[in-house]
Amino acid sequence: MKVDVLLGLQWGDEGKGKVVDVLTPRYDAVARFQGGPNAGHTLEFEGKKYVLRSIPSGIFQHGQINIIGNGVVLDPVLFKQEAEELEKSGVDLRSILKISKKVHLITPTHRLLDAANEKAKGGKKIGTTGKGIGPTYTDKISRNGLRLGDVFHNFNEKYSALRQRHLDQLESLGSKPENLDELEEKWMDAIEYLKGFGIVDSEFLINSLLAQGKSVLCEGAQGTLLDIDFGSYPFVTSSNTISAGACSGLGVAPNKIGEVFGIFKAYCTRVGSGPFPTELFDATGKRIRDLGHEYGAVTGRERRCGWIDLVALRYAIMLNGVTQLIMMKSDVLDDFDEIKACVAYKIKGVETTQFPFSIDEDIEPVYVTLPGWKTDMTKMQSEDEFPENFKNYIAFLEKELATPITIVSIGPDRKQTIVREKKN
Ligand code: GDP
Ligand code: IMO
Ligand code: MG
Repeated sequence: MKVDVLLGLQWGDEGKGKVVDVLTPRYDAVARFQGGPNAGHTLEFEGKKYVLRSIPSGIFQHGQINIIGNGVVLDPVLFKQEAEELEKSGVDLRSILKISKKVHLITPTHRLLDAANEKAKGGKKIGTTGKGIGPTYTDKISRNGLRLGDVFHNFNEKYSALRQRHLDQLESLGSKPENLDELEEKWMDAIEYLKGFGIVDSEFLINSLLAQGKSVLCEGAQGTLLDIDFGSYPFVTSSNTISAGACSGLGVAPNKIGEVFGIFKAYCTRVGSGPFPTELFDATGKRIRDLGHEYGAVTGRERRCGWIDLVALRYAIMLNGVTQLIMMKSDVLDDFDEIKACVAYKIKGVETTQFPFSIDEDIEPVYVTLPGWKTDMTKMQSEDEFPENFKNYIAFLEKELATPITIVSIGPDRKQTIVREKKN
């Protein structure tokens, strides 16, 4: 019996998809617990690249059950696109994928509302992915949402009521829906397609797996700094991205959680608006973006880049109860003379290591500068080959973060992953 959680410690796109795929052989099931198609999780192996949005990243290994848990919001149209592509490439999705009856459905009008809400914010846009995430979770919390299990119970009536609410809201925002009939036709068609998958009471499925002594890996989406409670509010997503979200998003009790893998990049990125204390606006930031190919997997948007922020990471480790750290994209810094790490913030002249209520104010990062390793690490097979300065960088981070780094990623491919000995 074991439920481990893997989640992002920064503003998303840390490389969760890649590592979930790498770790899947250790588990019997993989489960997504929050978020929706705002996620874009990239996997690369055997010369092929896949981007998953709603489907867990455990589908390419050896027949593990993959579960879309109740905490997820699902867009039937995007799910159909994603699933059809995977089925075309030979994944036997129907036998391994199970979807909770309790996932909330993203409707075409949720997406229109997302766009209209953003427009209404004028200069204070959140820079959402436009996938209808906020409005769908809003309906869930205000008890107006539509769940996948509803497709079997008075569905048309429930859909029409929600649609009318949304049309009223859109009107009050001065937004006129275009092509709604066409969008709805596609959506209803995708609902029929979804019915061909295992739609289950996933809380019972997971708990019965655990009762049989099986193990589950929970795959987070987004990252801790986008968490609705603890992230850089209001520039966050609309779900609990932290480890507690795995309990509510899957129906797993807190005492069943084992390891919490916290994943971070050797630097930091962010897409969309909102504060980012270590953001670099200079040539170094551009260099990180170019070398790290920092463009959104879903929207193609440029990711903002900056140095690693240990104040934010310590906060994320605390909130999630991280037991093991995973460092990604170390290779992106292979050719830098110097690397900086933010160890404290200076706010109005006062230094603090505590993540403040609002990071919107004038924060001056306090940096430590470390020497670069100036070595191509992308073909290395074991940590013994790591250059001395990189080993020192790892040791520095482990000390600052008081948590062991057990996996280091040195390239996008499944094979470019070094598992280190656990040292505690
Ligand atoms: P996720 O949302 O956390 O799954 O991350 P994304 O897939 O959105 O973004 C991570 C990007 O970095 C993808 O393009 C990956 O292929 C790539 N990537 C993952 N790990 C590494 C790594 O160690 N080095 C390099 N250079 N790229 C990586
Ligand atoms: P993965 O799982 C990075 C960001 C958006 C925006 C904010 C709110 O691939 O790491 P939303 O559409 O959720 O209402 O947008 O959150 N965002 C992400 N940033 N990675 C993601 O997912 C993200 N999902 C949402 O850019 O700033
Ligand atoms: Mg992503």
